[in-house]
Amino acid sequence: MTNSTPPAAQPHALKIDGQPSAFRAALEHELGSGEQAPESKVWLDYALSTNERAAQVVQTLLKFVPSLEGLRLLDVGSGYGGVCIAAARAGATAQGIEIDQRLLELAHLNRSDSPDQGVEFHALSAMDWSALEPLGRFDIITCDNVIEHVPIPPVLITHLSRMLKPGGLLYLTAPNAFSFGQIAKECHFGQFGLSLLDPVDGQAFLSHQMPGKTYDVSQYYRLGAYQELLTTHGLVPKLLNSVAAADEEVANAERARDELVRKRAEAHIPASLKAKVDGLLDAHLACFEADVAYFRSLPNSLEREELGHWLASTYLTELWYFVARPELPAPVENVASANATMRAATRVAGLVKSQATKIRRRLGR
Ligand SMILES: C[S@@+](CC[C@H](N)C(=O)[O-])C[C@H]1O[C@@H](n2cnc3c(N)ncnc32)[C@H](O)[C@@H]1O
Repeated sequence: MTNSTPPAAQPHALKIDGQPSAFRAALEHELGSGEQAPESKVWLDYALSTNERAAQVVQTLLKFVPSLEGLRLLDVGSGYGGVCIAAARAGATAQGIEIDQRLLELAHLNRSDSPDQGVEFHALSAMDWSALEPLGRFDIITCDNVIEHVPIPPVLITHLSRMLKPGGLLYLTAPNAFSFGQIAKECHFGQFGLSLLDPVDGQAFLSHQMPGKTYDVSQYYRLGAYQELLTTHGLVPKLLNSVAAADEEVANAERARDELVRKRAEAHIPASLKAKVDGLLDAHLACFEADVAYFRSLPNSLEREELGHWLASTYLTELWYFVARPELPAPVENVASANATMRAATRVAGLVKSQATKIRRRLGR
């Protein structure tokens, strides 16, 4: 199994419907029961929480579609299988794709705990179009905490946008590596400062702090980059994270900044990377101060409110939740103007034809 651990490990769900579970037994065998090492407990809790997290994903989807009954759903990077199983329970035909063979085996065990019709898992990569194309098109595609792991995120989004039916729904989450919380504790490995580094430095950091671990994060994008990635692929994104009043959000971001600065004093950073992490963090904090100063300088206005939300999404939100739909066809005004153009063109063609007839008559042809 790779060490693609969770963002935001959730310490709950240690029972699966209170029943003996083949899934749980296999996980405990593999990861330990958590009694030996706290780190293995975090991994175990995350794995076991797959079904609870999936139930929340389904609840979110149901805010955008009236029912999953009869819909085709694809879960990309399906991990322990929770989303497919929950979607099938809600009536969807669900398929998961996953590159990690051991996770696929665990997903099958998870499914065997609660046998549902209409769940299939495939060992294939979201980067491989020739393997994806035969799966067809989907009403819903979910991609939960995966995009930061794939080598080329634009290729992933190209594939997902091609597999979405017109009117379909993409659900995508991505960790915000630049949030103060993630800087203090990177969501996959819990290390201070790691999320600010590129993958090469990230691996060097990890090899020093957690020998034997692979840093399997390929890229962390900023919020605007994810939004642009979706829009340039013909998708209209909506950020789902809830927002409070701007002043409250900025005050929360300042508290998170204070907590980060407090943790910085006791952080363990490899000596070879200390100056780099310090430089990146100083620059990031300076940007935050400048953004907050500008925010405070604005009078109460829509612009101020929007800037406050942007500040919170950029520095405070630890995991971004997006939904995106394919762009609608041309709006009605454009159809109306296209019709007017057609009518004008028809009139011109008529005039040309009658002129041509007159000329032919004059020429006696
Ligand atoms: C952090 S885990 C998230 C798993 C699951 N979506 C969840 O939320 O529990 C990232 C998953 O993406 C999978 N993954 C990474 N690259 C992939 C690719 N190119 N195609 C399919 N799955 C991939 C990993 O093997 C891993 O299971």
